[in-house]
Amino acid sequence: MVCTIALLTVLCGCEVERRRSDADLGLNPQQASGRHVYDQYCDRCHAPYSSKKRQGPSLKGAFKRQYFSASGLPANDDRARDIIRMGRNKMDGFSNVLTDEQINDLLAYLHTL
Ligand code: HEC
Repeated sequence: MVCTIALLTVLCGCEVERRRSDADLGLNPQQASGRHVYDQYCDRCHAPYSSKKRQGPSLKGAFKRQYFSASGLPANDDRARDIIRMGRNKMDGFSNVLTDEQINDLLAYLHTL
């Protein structure tokens, strides 16, 4: 019995590390496209599913709070769109890299974090 519990704990530990599929996360097609953009351009600086800081603040639950943690700006689509387009401090802007549609997809995904 004790062994079973220990084994389950270990297995669950691995489960957390495993990359979850879009379906596991319950993402709709727009959110899934946003995740794709995120993985390509944002993930190296922002952790989506842990609160660990990378080069930038974690974006886990970013829209669930009233203000973004690093900038202290209101956590809404308009402010996030500005940050993504124009950049902030050590974050370069993406206005020349991402289309409006990609940014919309990205915002849809960020709301799921
Ligand atoms: C080179 C690293 C880097 C990349 C790449 C990057 N960011 Fe950032 N980002 C940062 C840093 C650093 C900050 C904190 C800026 C500050 O000091 O206010 C930040 C802030 C933010 C914020 C505001 C969070 C807060 O707590 O104030 C959002 C939202 C954000 N980034 C989204 C994105 C998205 C979406 C992408 C991908 C398109 C992205 N970032 C790519 C480094 C990065």
